[in-house]
Parts: sequence; C-alpha cells; structure tokens
Amino acid sequence: MERLPISRSLFFNAPAVISLVAASIAAILVYRACLHPLGKIPGPRIAALTSLWLTYHYWRGTWHDDILRLHDKYGPVVRIGPNEVALVDAAAAKQLYGHGKKVKKTNWYSTWIVPGRGRGVFSEQDHNTHSFLRKRVSAAYAMSSILKYEVYIQSCMDLCFEKLRKYAAAGEIVNMSEWTNALAFDVVGELAFGEKLGHLNAESADVGNLRHGIAQLFFVAANLGYVWGQSGLINSNPLVAFVMALFGAKPAMLEFANWTKKKVDARRQSDAPSDREDMLAHFIRMKSIDGDHPASDIEVIAESMNIIGAGADTTSIGMRTCLYYLSLNPTVYSRLQKEIDEYYDTHDLKVPITYQQTQELEYLKAVVLEALRLFPSITYQLPRYSPAAGIHVAKYYIPEGYEVGVSCIAQNRDKAVYGEDANEFRPERWLESKEKNAQLQANNMTFGGNGPRTCIGKNIAL
Ligand code: HEM
Ligand SMILES: *[C@@H]1O[C@H](CO)[C@@H](O)[C@H](O)[C@H]1NC(C)=O
Ligand SMILES: *[C@@H]1O[C@H](CO)[C@@H](O)[C@H](O)[C@H]1NC(C)=O
Ligand SMILES: *[C@@H]1O[C@H](CO)[C@@H](O)[C@H](O)[C@H]1NC(C)=O
Repeated sequence: MERLPISRSLFFNAPAVISLVAASIAAILVYRACLHPLGKIPGPRIAALTSLWLTYHYWRGTWHDDILRLHDKYGPVVRIGPNEVALVDAAAAKQLYGHGKKVKKTNWYSTWIVPGRGRGVFSEQDHNTHSFLRKRVSAAYAMSSILKYEVYIQSCMDLCFEKLRKYAAAGEIVNMSEWTNALAFDVVGELAFGEKLGHLNAESADVGNLRHGIAQLFFVAANLGYVWGQSGLINSNPLVAFVMALFGAKPAMLEFANWTKKKVDARRQSDAPSDREDMLAHFIRMKSIDGDHPASDIEVIAESMNIIGAGADTTSIGMRTCLYYLSLNPTVYSRLQKEIDEYYDTHDLKVPITYQQTQELEYLKAVVLEALRLFPSITYQLPRYSPAAGIHVAKYYIPEGYEVGVSCIAQNRDKAVYGEDANEFRPERWLESKEKNAQLQANNMTFGGNGPRTCIGKNIAL
C-alpha cells in the first residue's frame, strides 16, 4: 500500500488538524489568562489574551485617553498585553529610562527598520551598535551646535511671522495646526539639508505631500508594532506597499529619499567648501558603521531623514500644545505676555529675542514645561525588556525579559509626583522653589527620561 507524505495525510485528515490547532490555541489562552507569570497583574481581560487588543486601541488613535483611564481604573501597574505591562512609577521609570542602564528596547521598534536604508539611532536594539550610532551624531545635536544653527531657525521664524502678520492685518483666520507644522518642517529642512522645505512659502501648504506621507507611514508603522512579523510586512511586502501608495505614502517617501540624495550629492560635489555649519555637514564627515571610512550616502540620508521623521511632527505638536493651553487660560496668557513685553522694554530689544535670552524668562520656561508635561508629543508606551533583576512595582514583580513600558503622558500626570492637581494646567507649580522644580524636572518623561535613549533632538525642540 502506498504511504502518503505527512502533509497530504494531514490534509486529508482535516478534522484532526482543526482540533489540534483549536486545542493549541485554547492551551495558549488558558496559559496566558491563568498560569502566566504576569497572571496576577490587573488589566483588561482581553489584553491578557492577545496583543491585538493593544493594536486595536492604538489604531483607534485614542491611546492618550485610554492609558490615563486604564491607570485610573487598575492602578500604577496594568497588564496591557500577554507579555506587556504598563507602569506609572517614578522609581521604575528611572530604572527603565535612566542613566547607566543597559535596558533593551523591545521588538516593537523593529517596525522602524527599513531594509537597505541604514541603521537608525531610534530603532536600534543592540546596545553597542546604538552607542556607536548615537555617539557619531551627538555633536550635531549638542546645544552648542544648535546655537550655531539658530540663525537658520530664526530665518524660519521671521518668514512665519511675516506671513502671519499679513493674515492678521487682513483679519483672516489661519489654522495654527498647519502653520506650526509648516514651521517645524521648514526648520528641520534648514538643519538637516541646508534649506527650507518650502512649506511656509507655500502659505503652510503640504509641499509634495510630504507631511501627509510621513503621517500615513508613521500611523501604519507605529500601530503594527505589536503584530508578529510586522517589520517584513510593512517594509518589504509589495501588497502593503501598494496599499500605502494608494494613501499617497510611498511615492512621497521615495521622492523624498531621492530629493535627499540630491542634496547630499550637491554638498559632496560643491568645490568651494561650504562655510555653512549645519547637521548635513556633520553627517557627511561622520564615520561609517562598518569601518574607518566616511559614512556612505545611505547612512547620511538615513540620519537626515531621521531628523525630519522624528523631529518635525513632535515639535509642532509641542508648539500646538503650548498655544492650546495658552488660548484656554487667559490669565496665564496675559502673565506670559507681560513677562515678554517687559523683557523687550527693559533690554530695549529691537530684534527678535534669542534662545539664550529666553532662558531668563522664568514664566515662559514654566509654561513650556507645563504644556509639554500635560501633552508630551509621544504618548504611546516606550516598551523595554525587563532587566536581569526584574522590576518590583507596588506589590507586583515583573520577571526578566517581559515587556515593560511607561507612557510619557501617564507618568507626567502621576499624582504621587505632581500632586492632586496633576491633571491641571498650572505653570506656577514649576516656580514654587528651586528644589521643587528640580524634583519635578527629574521626573518628567516628556523626552523619554534622561538615559541613553532619551530624545537626542531635545535641544532643537526646545
Ligand atoms: C517636543 C518635541 C519632542 C518630543 C516631545 C520628543 C520625544 C521623544 C521621546 C519620548 C523619545 C524616546 C522614544 C523612545 O524611547 O522610544 C525620543 C527619542 C528620539 N527623538 Fe525626540 N522628541 C522631540 C523632538 C525631537 C527632535 C526635534 C528630534 C530631531 C531633530 C528628535 C529625535 C529623536 C531621536 C533620533 C530619538 C531616538 C534617540 C535614541 O534612541 O537614541 N526628537 N524623542
Ligand atoms: C486645522 O488643521 C488640522 C490639521 O491639518 C485639521 O485637523 C483641522 O481640521 C483644521 N481645522 C480647521 C478649522 O480647518
Ligand atoms: C527615485 O530615484 C530612482 C533612481 O534614480 C528612480 O528609479 C525612481 O523612479 C525615483 N523615484 C521617485 C518616486 O522619484
Ligand atoms: C524635563 O523636561 C525638561 C525640558 O522640558 C528637560 O530639560 C529635562 O531634562 C526633563 N527631565 C527628564 C528627566 O527628562
């Protein structure tokens, strides 16, 4: 009698296969719900069974509300996935995002790795590679460098205000969501490529569909982070590429990569060495990841595009947040305006105030800190693998290797740190005393803590 190959015999025995699969799924679900090491941690029941729960919530675009409600309901430790826990706890946040900690980013970040596009400082999971990537660009992001670029940032501000004055004079309403976005894109263009991207000049319009394209791409990438195999799915799957193209995402990015390459070529080929000291100049000088020779085009382009991707929307969200809270709080608005007007008067300022001068405006600094505290631009979890000793929070223990994360918005509203009025916009809380200010600053998660993975663009943003 002829023997069937295994696959065919299984195929013909469909009922057996189906029951086997069903039994395995049932076993996994029972394990996740009852026997799992995170089983005692409170949270929504479905979240314990499948990470699709979190994906669904991310996809809804309401996570900034969802995570606050989850912590209100379940407390500072919440199980938000089969293997993931969300925390609000100042001490735990320091363990995960503080100095001297070699805590690893989880696979959620692999969704940002684009094959053939160079390793990114944001998505790199390996500690040593990240260290190298970060060190070779850090001088370009240092405050001393940013101050050198200030003249380019100011030129964008000048253009922006010139345009806005025109609308104000005509009594026309403008959409500040669009204008802050246009301003931020032009600023990062100046820093990363040596020229504005033309969004202010186009009266805040989205030139070349770039902003829309990035938003679509990031929406899909960020929200698929918990789906198994997502990296390949997003970054090398032709079907997904086709669907994204329908949204206008892919051509914009490709065009943009091409455009970036042209800028790099032009800078490399220019005979007269440019005396313009910007980030592109720094990236062209940096060393390659695989040796002593200068970085390849792909690496330079990756760094330049990184700035646009990580820096433009985050910063415009920050500006909108400040404007939003100022508009809703006339008392704060007039106190701030008074502080700025007085500074101009007493210093007889005829030119725009500089960054360093603004550092003398204590109320302005407090307003920015407070607005960014209440709505930090990044509100998703920042997941890390629990370190070797595990993490103890409240009465719970999360063993090594499980995913643990803090959402900046939830930690920034921790009543244990900020008091009962943690959800209120009150810039005065930063001005009560030097000690109180230092303590609050040390605990704000707006830029992802102060450790090795903290926001490298913080100085640009500020
Ligand atoms: C208000 C504005 C901004 C906010 C609130 C912000 C927030 C953050 C946060 C929370 C992280 C940590 C992410 C994580 O752990 O997964 C981060 C990382 C990062 N940010 Fe920002 N960011 C801002 C502006 C910028 C700007 C202007 C740039 C660049 C020009 C930038 C570039 C980066 C990069 C490259 C990383 C990854 C750093 C690393 O892993 O070593 N950000 N940012
Ligand atoms: C302003 O722009 C934002 C961002 O594009 C958009 O969501 C919003 O609907 C606009 N508001 C108005 C009143 O047009
Ligand atoms: C980008 O450049 C490549 C190579 O020069 C070209 O084949 C491709 O069509 C360009 N893509 C876009 C969208 O401009
Ligand atoms: C808190 O925020 C300020 C700026 O808004 C920043 O300079 C400081 O480093 C932050 N603290 C931490 C721990 O990230």
